Amino acid sequence: MCGIVGYVGFRDCTDVLMDALSKLEYRGYDSAGIAVFENDEIKVAKSKGRLADLAEKMKKEGKPAGHSGIGHTRWATHGEPSDINSHPHSGERVTIVHNGIIENYKALKEFLVKEGCCFKSDTDTEVVAQLLDYYYDGDPIATISCVTKELEGSYALGVIFADFPDTVFAIRRESPLIVGIGDKESFIASDVTAILRYTKNYYLLEHDEIAVLSRYSTSIYDLHYHKLNKELKTADWDISAAEKGGYEHFMLKEIFEQPEAVKTTITPRITDGLPDLRECGITMEKLASFKNIFVVACGTAMHAGVVGRYVIEKLARIPVNVEIASEFRYREPIVSEGDLVIIISQSGETADSLAALRLAKSLGAETLAIVNAKGSSIAREADMLIYTHAGPEIAVASTKAYMVQIAVMYLFAFELALAKGMTDEAECRRLTGLLLKTPDIIQDVLKNKKETQYIASGLISADSLLYIGRGLDYALSMEGSLKLKEISYIHSESYAAGELKHGTISLISDGTPVIAVATQSNLFDKTISNIKEVKARGAKVILVCRDSYVPDKDVADYKFGLPDDIEDLLMPMAAVVPLQLIAYYTSVLRGNDVDKPRNLAKSVTVE
Ligand code: M6R
Repeated sequence: MCGIVGYVGFRDCTDVLMDALSKLEYRGYDSAGIAVFENDEIKVAKSKGRLADLAEKMKKEGKPAGHSGIGHTRWATHGEPSDINSHPHSGERVTIVHNGIIENYKALKEFLVKEGCCFKSDTDTEVVAQLLDYYYDGDPIATISCVTKELEGSYALGVIFADFPDTVFAIRRESPLIVGIGDKESFIASDVTAILRYTKNYYLLEHDEIAVLSRYSTSIYDLHYHKLNKELKTADWDISAAEKGGYEHFMLKEIFEQPEAVKTTITPRITDGLPDLRECGITMEKLASFKNIFVVACGTAMHAGVVGRYVIEKLARIPVNVEIASEFRYREPIVSEGDLVIIISQSGETADSLAALRLAKSLGAETLAIVNAKGSSIAREADMLIYTHAGPEIAVASTKAYMVQIAVMYLFAFELALAKGMTDEAECRRLTGLLLKTPDIIQDVLKNKKETQYIASGLISADSLLYIGRGLDYALSMEGSLKLKEISYIHSESYAAGELKHGTISLISDGTPVIAVATQSNLFDKTISNIKEVKARGAKVILVCRDSYVPDKDVADYKFGLPDDIEDLLMPMAAVVPLQLIAYYTSVLRGNDVDKPRNLAKSVTVE
């Protein structure tokens, strides 16, 4: 959940670390800090709050000057956000930054206290710093190797030793870490976007590999000090992908990137008008063999799975269970050989989703990952892999990742239906053709962003609201509601419209805003009846429906129209856009930090 960086080279280290951290702030933003070798001495600057607070502090107190060091942006797990609990943490000779959680930190701390160590912070990270110090015998690699054997949990560590100036050491287990290679400079970072300004070349550090970055070379070793020859990878994103590019917020930029993201994700997976997922390890024979499907994910990614369930069950007639990963992993799920478990994740590092993937594999199921972040743990461990090509998603609130996740679910469902003999090639081609048209449709819907601004202006003082719909519209309501509460901090719930009268309708009183989604023709009349029920009880209804429908006064106060020429099945790809924009503008109008909502982090690597 935190972001770590490190640098060795010829540039001003503080500037590089601060710049790289600014690209990782989405991972956590309650405190930040750096440690830099200044004239062979380690200088630390750290502060509670955002990176901007640290910059401000350094403006007043002076910034460390040097050419090598480590940095951190934090999402607190152990110990409240404070100056003291901010990373880096130090022992006498060792200073570290850490992303992850040390599960056995209490036992290690007790041991160290008995040995006479004094602790300043409440963090699990300081225990690692002190332990490194305790065992340090002048050989950094041997010490790191020995200490990590004692650690339980997850970590990506950047480590500097006082007597090894201008050298940065790094190791990871579970938490992600890459090693960037530039011209006479090298980097470590939790995510490649942090270093794109300087280089696109990087190594993916595997579990228990130790990187040593010095002025003259960068090497990677295993725990036994064997030097490893690793494949140098090249990022296919450029720096503009990780910058706002004139938009006020990353979230808005990412919403507007959706048409392109869908195109880039879908087009290469279509051959002769039909879905073709062979490059992802998915063959028609394999698809035909699956008996049950489980989709396991968290948050927005799980909502993409709910859309997928409707589409797969409708077209391929295979039962699909959609599960929250944190529940799935602990409820002894009945999953076995012949089942397919699909894990959806933007980051590919979500702890619960990763654990669910491992559990599914251990139970004998085949696993398919739908992942955006290249080389992430989930991508690497699944049997089959479909990358979504959304580019980096920086805003904590997921938008374009959701869009491409559902686009992939459609493509997958079409091919599955064909493999199962539930549809023929002609129909599959027709559906695939419709999917290919969705980028233009999304583009059209985006043109109406002003309307969503207007809708948002009516929501900003609401205490609570409801999202309702049926079928695919209900699936979409779940996502609309999460988006709104996540960034506007207004309480909201999504409800199956037909279920309201079994309890929830009592929440409706005069002026309660209700966002109703009604795009599915077979359920349309039923949904309208449900909407009338809330309207009659005083709700202020915003209706998202096809353009051609003109609601009476007893149905809606405001209508957001979607193009008429979209097939019901594909409607979520258009209808989610106003829901994203309504959430976005509500957050903006309430003066919130849209891209970094309170208490959250983009990559949830703790369970
Ligand atoms: O990286 P992942 O897709 O696995 O993340 C899952 C959720 O944490 C994520 O979708 C979260 O719900 C978003 N912040 C929602 O906008």
